[in-house]
Amino acid sequence: MSSSPSSRVAMVTGSNRGVGLALARGLAERGLHVVVTARTLQAAEHTAAELRAEGLAAAGRQLDVTDPASVFRAVADTAYEHGRLDVLVNNSAVAIDRNRTLTQADMEIVKATFDTNLLGAWRCCAEAVPVMRENGYGRILNVTSHMGSLTGMGSNSPAYRISKAALNAYTRALAAEVDGENILVNAASPGLAATRLAYGSATQSAQEAAQGMLWLALLPDDGPSGGIFHGQNPLVP
Ligand SMILES: NC(=O)c1ccc[n+]([C@@H]2O[C@H](COP(=O)([O-])OP(=O)(O)OC[C@H]3O[C@@H](n4cnc5c(N)ncnc54)[C@H](OP(=O)(O)O)[C@@H]3O)[C@@H](O)[C@H]2O)c1
Repeated sequence: MSSSPSSRVAMVTGSNRGVGLALARGLAERGLHVVVTARTLQAAEHTAAELRAEGLAAAGRQLDVTDPASVFRAVADTAYEHGRLDVLVNNSAVAIDRNRTLTQADMEIVKATFDTNLLGAWRCCAEAVPVMRENGYGRILNVTSHMGSLTGMGSNSPAYRISKAALNAYTRALAAEVDGENILVNAASPGLAATRLAYGSATQSAQEAAQGMLWLALLPDDGPSGGIFHGQNPLVP
């Protein structure tokens, strides 16, 4: 069932800073009610209050994507309060194996990376899709990276790279599962953006990076699903 943007509810994981905050602000500027989430309730409420001070519709919720109970609570409370969850942006990620190689990998770091970057998104989708199904409408945007591209695969930051390649695969698989249900699932890479994760190597702001991805959270019913994009262009997986 289609709805006007002003009646839609969006949840963005890790939206207390960086690209996630820019995506949350961009969705709110387009009229959606945005659930800002962060690992601490204090950070989420602080950011939501900043957006409300700009005249935007936002509320804060605690959400740690590695904690199943936290994911369940954030989605269930949102669905209870609003009766819907229309847009889910899986933005949260860690990049914590920058100086590692595959042969020198610390498996605890590999596990932690997958727990956030792949399983975190998976957990959020598993809770959100049933709510979207109830309303016959859903848009899911998984924030990926050029570093997850199989064709451009390198060996530095291996856990981060492979987690993003797996997130791309998950995106395609989920899109196939919900095909025909008006739940469109896509992934997009922001490209290098000036955030804490990029360690100062970017020239593009988080806001500029978000602009190129917002369209996937706002797709018409006949929009693409199962795609991996950078801006409007397909990213070679
Ligand atoms: N910046 C780039 O150049 C670039 C390039 C390609 C892809 N990306 C992707 O863009 C997305 C956003 O990255 P960013 O650059 O904005 O990075 P960032 O500034 O480091 O932000 C990461 C966000 O993820 C949150 N997070 C980490 N672990 C979490 C968990 N367990 N549960 C919930 N939230 C968690 C962080 O929360 P805390 O504040 O609590 O740590 C923070 O809000 C990521 O998916 C990243 O892979 C970024």
